[in-house]
Amino acid sequence: MAVAQSGILALGTSSHAYLEFDRVAGATDAALVGAVAALAATVKTTGATGIVVGVRPELWAAVVPDQAPEVHGYDDAVVGPDGFTMPATQHDLGLWVTGGGRSIVFDASTHAVSALAGVATLADETVGWSHHHDRDLTGFEDGTENPPAAQAVSVVTVPDGQPGAGGSVLLLQKWVHDSAQWYALDRETQENVIGRTKPDSIELDPKPDDAHAARTDQDTYGHVFRRNTAWGDTASHGTMFVGFCAEQGPLAEMLDAMAGKDGPRDALTRYTRALTGSYYVVPPADALARLAPAAD
Ligand code: HEM
Repeated sequence: MAVAQSGILALGTSSHAYLEFDRVAGATDAALVGAVAALAATVKTTGATGIVVGVRPELWAAVVPDQAPEVHGYDDAVVGPDGFTMPATQHDLGLWVTGGGRSIVFDASTHAVSALAGVATLADETVGWSHHHDRDLTGFEDGTENPPAAQAVSVVTVPDGQPGAGGSVLLLQKWVHDSAQWYALDRETQENVIGRTKPDSIELDPKPDDAHAARTDQDTYGHVFRRNTAWGDTASHGTMFVGFCAEQGPLAEMLDAMAGKDGPRDALTRYTRALTGSYYVVPPADALARLAPAAD
């Protein structure tokens, strides 16, 4: 039976790092995937760090064609009718390293960079943290409408019998906030932008059509599981959107909706801007284990 990577559902860690890699010239598809599979195989249950491994969809399909879900890379920017743009910055490998503190996440990240050095170079690195447990840097609770943990596994996992069963689709997208503008708004205006109350995250009824929670309404677009964290420093900061789903459609449709392709542009995009965007196949743990070259 195909088994999802457990890190997708590992809750409660406060320190995060997102590492995206590009292939070095000459490295084969098989070598690249083999190296990241070997890295995943080294993660112990001691050491207090976890890792989620993502592979560019076309790369995964080239190496394991019979276990590839229907997913494509984030190769074209998402552009709304008014020109609002979410750029495409697809890389070959995406790693999400988590742990209970910065030191161990730093060590695990450094280890990953050197373990992959022969086949891939680090192209982008973002350090994140769980801000006040479950708030993003708008000050709102982020994750309220996530499925309960017991249901999340079925929301994120390609079902048995389908291509890529046990795998998942990850949208990794770094957003920068314009906090000066955002915090100049009064609370009621902020709540109308999100579509929820600020202290206790209660859904507004009714909520504006351009509220973020309306433009990403899961009853319309399908259910996803978000593991977003805060990133940055006082000068430049925002949200690392870390969204998992059993299929690409809901994530891609939400981006289109936020850009205003099927209705008003998401009000949140007046105060935040996407800097990156990549889709990754998050292969099942057992498939990665099979691909890891045997240790000497
Ligand atoms: C700057 C970036 C973002 C911020 C700060 C942000 C923040 C939030 C907040 C505060 C909520 C309301 C509470 C909750 O249900 O979690 C929310 C809801 C949601 N967001 Fe985002 N979000 C961002 C980007 C995105 C993106 C890129 C997507 C999808 C691709 C997305 C998908 C969702 C979904 C599905 C919901 C729940 C909607 C529902 O009520 O069904 N968000 N987000």
